[in-house]
Amino acid sequence: MDPAQFSTDALLSSTFRDDYGLEREKLESLYSKSKRHQWNAELDVEWDRFEPDVDILDRRSDLLSRLPSVQALPENEQASLFKAGNLFLISQVLHGEQAALMTCGQLVNSVPDMDGKFAAAVQVIDEARHVEVFARYLQCHGRRFPIDPDLQSIVTQLLAEHDWEAKCVGMQVILESIALSFFRLGEEKAVEPVLAQFIGRVHEDEARHVAYGVLTLEDRIPQLAEETRERLENWAYDAIARIGGRAGKQSFQSQMQALATTGIDLERFLPALMADFARIHEMDFSGLNDPMAQTVLPNLLRIGLVPERLVPGYLAQGWVVDRDTRSVRDIHTFASETQDMRRVFQDQGIDFADPAQVSRLED
Ligand SMILES: [Fe+2]
Ligand SMILES: [Fe+2]
Repeated sequence: MDPAQFSTDALLSSTFRDDYGLEREKLESLYSKSKRHQWNAELDVEWDRFEPDVDILDRRSDLLSRLPSVQALPENEQASLFKAGNLFLISQVLHGEQAALMTCGQLVNSVPDMDGKFAAAVQVIDEARHVEVFARYLQCHGRRFPIDPDLQSIVTQLLAEHDWEAKCVGMQVILESIALSFFRLGEEKAVEPVLAQFIGRVHEDEARHVAYGVLTLEDRIPQLAEETRERLENWAYDAIARIGGRAGKQSFQSQMQALATTGIDLERFLPALMADFARIHEMDFSGLNDPMAQTVLPNLLRIGLVPERLVPGYLAQGWVVDRDTRSVRDIHTFASETQDMRRVFQDQGIDFADPAQVSRLED
């Protein structure tokens, strides 16, 4: 098989209905809105306005722009670094869009109610358009990076999940909430004119998809058996630990591939970069967005998938979660509260990357 291609088996329970009534007003209005807001990636974007030599996103939105090791690079190397980083990210977004297209096709079969099937069906065409628009965009740049192994393993698991609730949590609530943060950032910070034209429209579509997930699941989760709900809570925790990269392992391992394409002398640059990361606690993070605190965790709280037993594990990753007010504060990994929590886990021999182990924490 082509190494860039992967397959997975999906055993799907499909529900056919002999009842065509739409029952849930909120989902029906989402479906209706989606039909009215369709756009065409081929004709509604002025592709000839593409500018190959400008920045893709405003550099100030990137943590790297605040590092002395980066600021010390000559201007052409800095430009190349930010471009490679942005193209790596957009490539992962493209792969995520394909995963959304496929998962959503499955949801048409497996969600039991007609309103849910309609909302998933219209999302399928939205996702096809997103795949098209990002694939065309990367073609303009003449560069695309392969899917990152962490993202691939989450996508594989998502497609193979049997229950629609697990697919919906993984795709609509976790991956799409992360994408939503990126699109929001893109809408504010896109510099390259073609990206600036379409990113806001993708953002608008994606906001409807996340709303679909949250509206469907906030009704459904409380009805699940305890065991099923626990499994979903753990699956969400595990996905966040892997993508967020705050549980002892760097996320997006393959990002280094992007760095290797920049032409920067890595033997000189990498040690300086690592030295900056070692002093990261001295950095000012204000104005940088964290998708987990902004969208993912608040949505998980809303649908009831952040149990008390996992709150210490989220704290060890730098997120203070308040279940009562459903609020999340990002204090980052170097805060003393985070470090104290990590020490407690360590003393009890618990790996906080693993939700089953986190549950075993003793007072
Ligand atoms: Fe999408
Ligand atoms: Fe989506």
